[in-house]
Amino acid sequence: MDALSISTAAYIVAALLFILSLAGLSKHETSRQGVVYGIAGMAIALVATFVVVADVAIDSDDALGVVLLVVAMVIGAVIGLWRARVVEMTGMPELIALLHSFVGLAAVLVGWNGHLEAPHYSGALADIHHAEVFIGVFIGAVTFTGSIVANLKLSAKIKSAPLVLPGKNLLNVGALVAFVVLTVWYVIDSELWLLVVVTVLALALGWHLVASIGGGDMPVVVSMLNSYSGWAAAAAGFLLSNDLLIVTGALVGSSGAYLSYIMCKAMNRSFLSVIAGGFGIEAGPAGDTDYGEHREIDAEGTAELLRNASSVVITPGYGMAVAQAQYPVADLTKKLRERGVDVRFGIHPVAGRLPGHMNVLLAEAKVPYDIVLEMDEINDDLAATSVVLVIGANDTVNPAATEDPSSPIAGMPVLTVWEAENVVVFKRSMAAGYAGVQNPLFFRENTQMLFGDAKDRVEDILRAL
Ligand code: TAP
Repeated sequence: MDALSISTAAYIVAALLFILSLAGLSKHETSRQGVVYGIAGMAIALVATFVVVADVAIDSDDALGVVLLVVAMVIGAVIGLWRARVVEMTGMPELIALLHSFVGLAAVLVGWNGHLEAPHYSGALADIHHAEVFIGVFIGAVTFTGSIVANLKLSAKIKSAPLVLPGKNLLNVGALVAFVVLTVWYVIDSELWLLVVVTVLALALGWHLVASIGGGDMPVVVSMLNSYSGWAAAAAGFLLSNDLLIVTGALVGSSGAYLSYIMCKAMNRSFLSVIAGGFGIEAGPAGDTDYGEHREIDAEGTAELLRNASSVVITPGYGMAVAQAQYPVADLTKKLRERGVDVRFGIHPVAGRLPGHMNVLLAEAKVPYDIVLEMDEINDDLAATSVVLVIGANDTVNPAATEDPSSPIAGMPVLTVWEAENVVVFKRSMAAGYAGVQNPLFFRENTQMLFGDAKDRVEDILRAL
């Protein structure tokens, strides 16, 4: 058997392993298995690629390709291992966004190479090749800059509020129309300057699309960029005649699109408006509404409330992850349950910074799984709850989402904690949450603020109890 047949067979096995990996990742119980399938598939794909390149090197008596491949693999492996070791759980989404940007950049480079080293096709084959180059560069460049903006927004290096340029929808639609016209032009006459224009256009469009999307919708954007990066990889696969890249790209592209759709539904957002860069979002009010004064409480006061409570609901958010407060929160839960208090958790679908973030933290601290409920399961019970502890959550418990149609997060389903008898909000200051909007919950009559690091404050309450 020659190297090409071996690699083709290996690619089929790898593609199957990737499909099994996705299937495994769809359930908690099988997720570890899913990861193992993914690692195995990627290892097989890397070895098969190496075999193909080594075979070409032997035939042509030129080792340059192998040397370049080994250097790229070593650099990639070192960076990958280093990032994976040091990344905090809270930093995962921005790391993923950065990885997507690499896929986009790779697709742009492959596309450019497809132009500069164009094979000698003629007729319809040449047209198809040109279309592949152009579309690959376009999707890759949109993914590249879009992912960089997502990374900067998620890591708070730039503001998460949506950029609202005048006529922004027209800009996006105009860019898409220009892309279609340029593609036809390039297929007819493959001039280099057309490729330069589409690259610049797509880089600008990617930047603008993601910059226009507000902080609260960022989770959907990350999964959407995941989908774009898949299509960019598939486009590169066509250019390189690499079946595995096409299959894997299509898997990532379609599963990312489906995940974005599910998230949009959960957050009551229109799928089309999010993928079109916040289509329809216009500038909101300045946000200087005066909600009055907030009230404060200390750890002893909170302990007193809890002592007299019959039912407690804890709604954790990003701040619990930052403070690593899940362990004292688990201790507090245990202590209260021993005293006969009914304690449950209410988890918002986008609490924290990645899907399932809170579930993972609570599982890590060994909070029993049966008292950890989804938002829809707990919302109806909140009105009959004595005390809600909002631990480092903000946007996910913001009543403005349901009550203020002009709010940037209007329409997003939230945990209706304000319906409870008492609400205690754990945070360090009156600062806004991720979406950058003020939270009227903090000024409600039944709400009291417990300022300080969430971990320290929960430990204080434990001592007071
Ligand atoms: P956020 O709205 O981000 O609010 C977190 C709050 O925690 C902040 O107001 C902050 O207030 C407080 N905090 C931070 N560190 C703290 C500490 N050490 N101790 C106590 N409090 C601390 O959180 P959320 O309610 O979980 O909402 C998540 C937001 O992230 C949503 O807007 C969502 O769309 C977005 N997002 C979610 C995801 C996914 S998939 N889950 C991905 C990307 C973005 P202080 O600074 O005053 O302490």
